[in-house]
Amino acid sequence: MEALEALLGRSSAAKLAEPAPQGEVRERIFRAALRAPDHARLRPWRFLVVEAEDRSHLGEALARAMQARDPQTDPAALAKVRANPLRAPLVLLLVARISEHPKVPALEQQFSVACAAQCVLLAAHAEGFGGIWRSGAITYSPELHAELGLAPDEQMLGFLYLGTPLAVVPRPGPDPSVQEHFRVWPAH
Ligand SMILES: Cc1cc2nc3c(=O)[nH]c(=O)nc-3n(C[C@H](O)[C@H](O)[C@H](O)COP(=O)(O)O)c2cc1C
Repeated sequence: MEALEALLGRSSAAKLAEPAPQGEVRERIFRAALRAPDHARLRPWRFLVVEAEDRSHLGEALARAMQARDPQTDPAALAKVRANPLRAPLVLLLVARISEHPKVPALEQQFSVACAAQCVLLAAHAEGFGGIWRSGAITYSPELHAELGLAPDEQMLGFLYLGTPLAVVPRPGPDPSVQEHFRVWPAH
């Protein structure tokens, strides 16, 4: 697929089924992530790859984190979060490994991981797959970080669900207009 066609045509896929990208295709998608802009080449990107039955282990970890955060959590909410990783055959956890650097604040390193995530979504789309970036209440919580075994310099930034798209996220209306989002500065 041509690059601009992929950029302009990508939509998040709310429903994802087997198969997930495998083999060389998966490798190309993952390599695309590593082309994200990266100030001072700190390479902050850490993707945790979760699939097959390990998705259930992730669901258990999410539920434990949620309960640790709020012991009064409704059992229905726990059941929902436990099942969340089963919504797609492949789940990537977006993790930023933050380095101390005199010129590159943590925020810029998080931006780089976000760019890498978008690279994955675009490359997956270009390869005929689909995905969606999701977060949720416990994404950024210390309880989830502990469950995932993240190091003190690592931060969880979200979840990329990947697979074969069954349904895209419906767009609420027309695409935003360029005029609305870009303006000449200073105003004349
Ligand atoms: C950081 C971040 C977190 C997000 N979290 C969620 C989420 O938890 N649930 C959700 O439905 N969409 C979430 N989204 C939005 C979807 O990924 C997606 O962008 C949105 O549904 C619009 O679809 P589109 O990508 O086709 O325009 C998140 C997006 C970003 C950038």
